Amino acid sequence: MRTQDAPGFAGRRAAVLCGLGGYLPSRVLDNAELSGRMDTSDEWIRTRTGIAERRIADDMSTVDMAVEAGRAALNSAGLDRVDALVLATSTPDYVCPASAPQVAAALGLSGIAAFDVNAVCSGFVYALATAAGMISAGISGSVLVVGADKFSAVVDPGDRGTAPIFGDGAGAIVLRAGAPAEDGALGPFDLHSEGEGTDLLYVPAGGVRQRFAAEEQDNFLVMQGQKVFRQACARMAESSRAVLDRAGWDVAEVDRFVGHQANIRILDAVAKKLGLPAEAVVANIGTVGNTVAASVPLALLDGVKEGHLVPGHRVVVSAFGAGLTWGSTVLRWPEVTPG
Ligand code: UT7
Repeated sequence: MRTQDAPGFAGRRAAVLCGLGGYLPSRVLDNAELSGRMDTSDEWIRTRTGIAERRIADDMSTVDMAVEAGRAALNSAGLDRVDALVLATSTPDYVCPASAPQVAAALGLSGIAAFDVNAVCSGFVYALATAAGMISAGISGSVLVVGADKFSAVVDPGDRGTAPIFGDGAGAIVLRAGAPAEDGALGPFDLHSEGEGTDLLYVPAGGVRQRFAAEEQDNFLVMQGQKVFRQACARMAESSRAVLDRAGWDVAEVDRFVGHQANIRILDAVAKKLGLPAEAVVANIGTVGNTVAASVPLALLDGVKEGHLVPGHRVVVSAFGAGLTWGSTVLRWPEVTPG
């Protein structure tokens, strides 16, 4: 049997997944409530996206949710300390400073390295790559990686093109130093961007180009849904193939595909392009919607809780998002009890 000691990876110090947790705010926003607010229907949202309900953070912030998810992941790992915290988010509590130090402080981890990574829906995969690099380079022995977003703060609540899709939440994992052949060792990564596609999915105001919105609408997310849809299908399939190639895995050896949860039709299309059976797709989008940087860890968590992801499974993780950005990695699923 092949291990993850694929060419170029044998002998290195690997980052091994050893903890997993998540947090979802308590308020449920279902399709019926949305249908009363805008010209849409439960039937349209379910069939076009696979989403039945999503969670809304209300007065909780991104940091608040990240703290809860981070605490759960640390419990799961049985650790009360890590060397670093990387937070993937594009909805930080403040434009300046980053949110990660606040998360670290709230978790009693003041003093550790803590910073944000912003690659929007691909943020968690980028943060994993960053953290894995820190471990492989010997900079850190253990890293808490959190993905958290409060997109309800940037989505126009009356826009039927975006409001039905996005939800709030946070997910987290703990990585520790280990050996490449261990279950849980993150495999090679494949990461990309294409800034030419910025205007396919962006929030016009709030940054330094347009600090304060000239038009109220500029405060809200703009999305060219169909174009993003097509790119997401093509890029996640392409990147998954690239990372499988680098890992030396055949598609036939893959047990589970954990993709960014943006639309069930995207996940199904990517699986089809890769030649994976529908059962390989891990999907929790129905109950959480698109939780942006929290999407991948929340899908992993749901997969474990539902018994869909079990130790030894060969897993491909892939994400695509605004930027445009996309990326993938692989791992053999480890023995881990969610915190
Ligand atoms: O997180 C990473 C980035 N995000 C994504 O990956 C999202 C990618 N995009 C999508 O998931 C899909 O494009 C959407 C779910 C956003 C939209 O689905 P679609 O199948 O691409 O719909 P569409 O925009 O082509 O619209 C089809 C029809 C239109 O009506 P007409 O022109 O055919 O009469 C829309 O006006 O559906 C209409 N429509 C709706 N109808 C009811 C659009 N949104 C809604 C809605 N309810 N919420």
